[in-house]
Amino acid sequence: MVFENLLVSIEDGILTIMVNRPVKLNALTGFTVWEIGRAMEEAVADPLVRGIIITGAGSKAFVAGADIAEIAGFSSEQVNAMAAAGQLVFRSIEESSKPVIAAINGYALGGGCELAMACHLRVASENARFGQPEVNLGLIACYGGTQRLTQLIGKSKSMELHLTADHITAAQALDLGLVNYITTEAELMSTCRKLMGKIISKAPVALAGVIACVNAFYTEGADGYEAERVEFDKCFSTNDFKEGASAFLEKRKPVFSGS
Ligand code: COA
Repeated sequence: MVFENLLVSIEDGILTIMVNRPVKLNALTGFTVWEIGRAMEEAVADPLVRGIIITGAGSKAFVAGADIAEIAGFSSEQVNAMAAAGQLVFRSIEESSKPVIAAINGYALGGGCELAMACHLRVASENARFGQPEVNLGLIACYGGTQRLTQLIGKSKSMELHLTADHITAAQALDLGLVNYITTEAELMSTCRKLMGKIISKAPVALAGVIACVNAFYTEGADGYEAERVEFDKCFSTNDFKEGASAFLEKRKPVFSGS
């Protein structure tokens, strides 16, 4: 499918979704968020896709937030619909059965920080900057930022970042546990591809099980231990478990089929 504000490409089973509005620092219009949702749906359904990397076009920004010019003209009904639709799309990323890495190549502010946090892992280039600056506009985050930032870095720092609107550097984000790795700008995509390559060499059903169980810890009403038993059982019945166990006993590398 061709997108208006995204560039999508696949190589070696890794789909890259690049938000492509660099003149507006990749700010997210409602339509762009919808396109991200469509791209995710297609990626999850496509057997050729084993993992997904989300990034931004240009060297300045991952995503500099929701498009302020668009929001400024919205009615309260429109803004409500935008928040609800955006939360659904970001949840679809978080709950994707295929691993998703954010390659953060510059500003990840507001909705950009929220998009990165919806991904399973985050790799930042040295020039990346993070923040939830919505209070500067008289707003608050609306794509899950108050919740996910608190889950990722704890209440105290999350509260501070939301209340002050401060930007933090990639190094500070690493210290806080907001990102998994920092790399140079030049090596950002290759680092993400290498990390994703390692992950997608594992059994897909097991990867999906890990994602579901870790997410269950943060899902109200979910029993994470029960989820773990269910997902373990699913893995146990796969051909990939037979292959993994045989390969270990035969001292060779497993070749997983995803069945
Ligand atoms: N929504 C709409 N447009 C945005 C945007 C956003 N979130 N962020 C940047 N842009 C646009 C700017 O309006 C500007 O467009 P113009 O050239 O037509 O005037 C262009 O992107 C470049 O941004 P600019 O502000 O000139 O770059 P800068 O280097 O001076 O500052 C930032 C970069 C990221 C610090 C600054 O753009 C910024 O604070 N953006 C808003 C971040 C934010 O509040 N996000 C949360 C939104 S809810």
